[in-house]
Amino acid sequence: MPPRPRLPAGHDHLAQIVFAQGFGARRDCDGLVSHGLVQVRGEVVDDPYAVFPVDGLDMVIDGQPWIAHVRALIVLNKSAGYECSLKPGAWPGVHNLLPVPLRRRGLQPVGRLDQDTTGLLLMTDDGALLHKLTAPKHHVPKVYEVTCKHPVTQDMCDKLTSGVVLDDDPMPVQADAAELVGEGETLHLRLTLLQGKYHQVKRMVAAVGNRVEGLHRSQIGRLTIPDDLAPGQWRWIDDPAIVLP
Ligand code: URA
Repeated sequence: MPPRPRLPAGHDHLAQIVFAQGFGARRDCDGLVSHGLVQVRGEVVDDPYAVFPVDGLDMVIDGQPWIAHVRALIVLNKSAGYECSLKPGAWPGVHNLLPVPLRRRGLQPVGRLDQDTTGLLLMTDDGALLHKLTAPKHHVPKVYEVTCKHPVTQDMCDKLTSGVVLDDDPMPVQADAAELVGEGETLHLRLTLLQGKYHQVKRMVAAVGNRVEGLHRSQIGRLTIPDDLAPGQWRWIDDPAIVLP
């Protein structure tokens, strides 16, 4: 058989595109296409070898509207009661909040949230981007809205920004910013962190003599939770630049 001609950059065969988006085994994806279950830009295409540009391709796959993404980057408005671990234990994993094709793509959380923490969680299958968004040297700030057990004082905020020692960690950690939220005596604190150590907010707040009762991440870099993204819902992010500071 003569070698197949090279495909133009960014293009692929339709069955391969369906497969790479996470719609099942390669053979099953061939079947979806050849049985007329894949539409491209509103038209059924039943040739598994038809060639299309991948990124942004508007499809309906087995009844599911789908925009193809070579690399997935999504924002999830995490609800309480879900673990970020890939092998969750006592609680269901955040992957359960995603459609099956995205679960198959093995998206990783960009900075985990505890089971009881709500709010902004980024997930991606792009290893280079994951590194860029999590490596401390890239200084991507994360903003947390904290509800404390005891009133928050200015002295606590000052200690959080000047640096606190966590357990037996030799290096003190400091918040980039810590501010009281609300008028008068308040239980609410807004904390901006550049690192992402294990239980960092809870441990920092404990280190200044208070206790976290509620934790919500509201911002990563320049990205906030879209107003119309309800808890438990997710959305594509097409331009990772929006996350970077
Ligand atoms: N810090 C915490 O303590 N918990 C989180 O979920 C995130 C940051």
